[in-house]
Amino acid sequence: MFNPPPEAFENSRDSYRNPWIFGILIIVVIFLFIIMFSLESKSEFLTDPFLQAPTENSVQVVWFTEFPGKRNFVIYGENLNQVVEANTTKLSRTREDQDSMVGKQTEKGLIYQQPIIRDIWRHEAKVIGLTPNNSVPYQIISEKENGENMRSKIFNLAAKPNPGKPLKILLTSDHQLKPMSSANLQKVTETFDKLDAIFFAGDLVNIPDRASEWFDDNRGNAFFPNLQGRANYELEKNGKKTVYKGGELIQNMPLFPAIGNHEVMGIFSMKTSLNYQFSQPYPREAAKDLYPEKPQNINPDTWLKNNSFNTDTYQEIFTLPQNSSEEKNYYAVTFGDVRLVVLYITNIWRVPHLKDNARGKYRERKKDFDNPAEWGYGQHIFEPIIKGSEQYNWLEKELASQEFQQAKYKVVMFHHPPHSLGENSIPAYTNPIQYIDRDENGKITMIRYEYPQQNDYIIRDVLPLLENAGVQLVFYGHSHLWNRFVSPSGMHFLETSNVGNSYGAYVGETKRNVPLNYQEKYAEVGNPNGLEPIIPTIAPLLDENGKPQPFIASNNITAFSIFETETGTVSSYYFDTRKPNSEVVKFDEFQLRK
Ligand SMILES: [Fe+2]
Repeated sequence: MFNPPPEAFENSRDSYRNPWIFGILIIVVIFLFIIMFSLESKSEFLTDPFLQAPTENSVQVVWFTEFPGKRNFVIYGENLNQVVEANTTKLSRTREDQDSMVGKQTEKGLIYQQPIIRDIWRHEAKVIGLTPNNSVPYQIISEKENGENMRSKIFNLAAKPNPGKPLKILLTSDHQLKPMSSANLQKVTETFDKLDAIFFAGDLVNIPDRASEWFDDNRGNAFFPNLQGRANYELEKNGKKTVYKGGELIQNMPLFPAIGNHEVMGIFSMKTSLNYQFSQPYPREAAKDLYPEKPQNINPDTWLKNNSFNTDTYQEIFTLPQNSSEEKNYYAVTFGDVRLVVLYITNIWRVPHLKDNARGKYRERKKDFDNPAEWGYGQHIFEPIIKGSEQYNWLEKELASQEFQQAKYKVVMFHHPPHSLGENSIPAYTNPIQYIDRDENGKITMIRYEYPQQNDYIIRDVLPLLENAGVQLVFYGHSHLWNRFVSPSGMHFLETSNVGNSYGAYVGETKRNVPLNYQEKYAEVGNPNGLEPIIPTIAPLLDENGKPQPFIASNNITAFSIFETETGTVSSYYFDTRKPNSEVVKFDEFQLRK
């Protein structure tokens, strides 16, 4: 055994006596503790808790981890002395791949070359015994296999508010990890101390089965970090970088989402990229034709979903009000004075151009003419809303219900724009009609899609129902701009999707990419459905000639809207990210009809 010489102890005693060395040692130890603590806290929860589906006396608390946990529970009440156990499930389709920006993968394909399953557990606890209008503190606890308890910060939860309680509700959509989304949500929380709910009109992420887009994209602006104030996104404007944290929102208020095209995942594979799978959601009928032979050992529903499209990840992440369709993608809920009706109105988005390589809105790719497995089938609709469809019948019933008719405010939310200056208001929201042209030998020379304007299901079938039922506000997204409209009877339309970026407003010389030699006329500019856009009432942005613009479509200026039930007003605000120290500007306000 090695015995150190006595002078070694002497020397160490000397250094112990030397205050400089002692001080440095202390600093090193503290530094090591800080590093260990920060590593530990990173490995804790994948998300903070968030609130879902409140009732008169309960609310669901949901969170995610990368381990199942021995026990997962919520403590709540004035002294955090009430306990409720969580039910734990595993997400079934979440994966990462070559395009994920996750962990150490900072460029395409650095670590992953094909999809791999990402194991993520979801914990959900129903907190009961609550009284309306009364919020109480809560905390989540997950116990790891080694017995270590992990705790979140303390947040506040509440049951549904009673009618009459003044509420402030954030109207937002189309975050999709876009550059200004963290700044937008940070400005929401800096402008409003306390909000009561979020209505989210779809397109939460880009690729719904890519786990990191929800939880921990390494650019810092995934869905949950943005809405929980845990983002860390560096936005560069004019050579100056600003880090935005998003806003601590959904820990303390329920989120009511509508499904957008980016929540629908296409064909399932562990080989092709997630981007490709997302881009190929075969219509259900086409999938049945393409794959007539079903394997014996697979559930037919799962088989059909895997070979067409599904919304499983969206449904597994959220708990929506339980009066909905079986698939939960449309529902209605009363929240204070508001009856919110949420519809599943969205179709696959495809490129508008007509070049030979376009698997587009208006045509198939030339090289795929003889290969239906590679067709895109145009901008087909995921869930029918045509008059007589299951969803349409459900909507009719909902609009005739007591809950709907007695509500002070009647709001309908869905993803696809009924009225918009944006790119996605054309073609009409209708099933594409396929035309196949052939030469004299029967060889396919072109596959076209047409969308007759008079068959637009939203305009033709849905809006008359909403008008008759006295709906005051129709709220939607999809084109990434802010604009609004009002019908002759006073029904308001608002698209407040200029959150993280813009796809432009099509007015004047800015024209949409449309086919000019097709049977149908597709609007190059303006709102194809007639209503004129409203100029913001307080501080509209001006064009280069100093004329007020009826929209915000900008990659520098981000917008959000707040619905205040006490006054029935919807106010919109913008923030110029080129001036990080500037205040938000309230630029528009309108009042819902009584
Ligand atoms: Fe969209």
